[in-house]
Amino acid sequence: MIVAPSILSADFSKLLEEVQEVKKNGAQFLHIDVMDGHFVPNISLGSVVYKDLKGKVDIVFDVHLMISDPVKYAKDFVTAGADYITFHMEAVDNPKETIDYIKSLGVKVGLSIKPNTSIDTIVPYLNELDLVLVMSVEPGFGGQKFMESSIPKILKLKELKEKNKYNYLIQVDGGINDQTAKQVALAGVEVIVAGTYIFKSINRERTIKELLEL
Ligand code: DX5
Ligand code: ZN
Repeated sequence: MIVAPSILSADFSKLLEEVQEVKKNGAQFLHIDVMDGHFVPNISLGSVVYKDLKGKVDIVFDVHLMISDPVKYAKDFVTAGADYITFHMEAVDNPKETIDYIKSLGVKVGLSIKPNTSIDTIVPYLNELDLVLVMSVEPGFGGQKFMESSIPKILKLKELKEKNKYNYLIQVDGGINDQTAKQVALAGVEVIVAGTYIFKSINRERTIKELLEL
């Protein structure tokens, strides 16, 4: 399993140490949640913060844009060191153009759907994607309860990936704990995002290790 700790639950007063620690414990991705107070009712940090982290810790920057205008800001995150840029299906009028634009910036591209968005909406774009992110909570806040409705979506993505030999990684985000992690792993998830579960854990090393072994 690829483990992607969500930076949203880290202690921002010692961000570098927090990221170095999860990296040391085996996390391969750093999940960077970007919120604009418009697409979601919350604001997080902008690209300047991540730019200062890049180069100080060798970890994949997995940027999750929960913003209304991903095209406008994608380049700033590429400059800040993004490896993957994931945008929301619900945020754009023309997903194909957005995918092409993000690819043209030289990074991998992901597409995400909120809990009430059907998988059918993204099927036409699956062959173009490096990552598909299934939200298992309403985006906007960490620490929410996992929604079971994400499971059939993961199963479907796995089936379509195998049938068509697609390249995307299947990622899930929201409400992950020891139990829900097992459920999503069984369904076919390849990248697990976990914020609260990792950063608020009393033994981060063991928590990450258990996720890695799924
Ligand atoms: C939710 C964010 C998540 C969030 C996950 O809007 O996209 O990445 O930080 O937090 P937990 O793991 O605490 O549900
Ligand atoms: Zn996220």
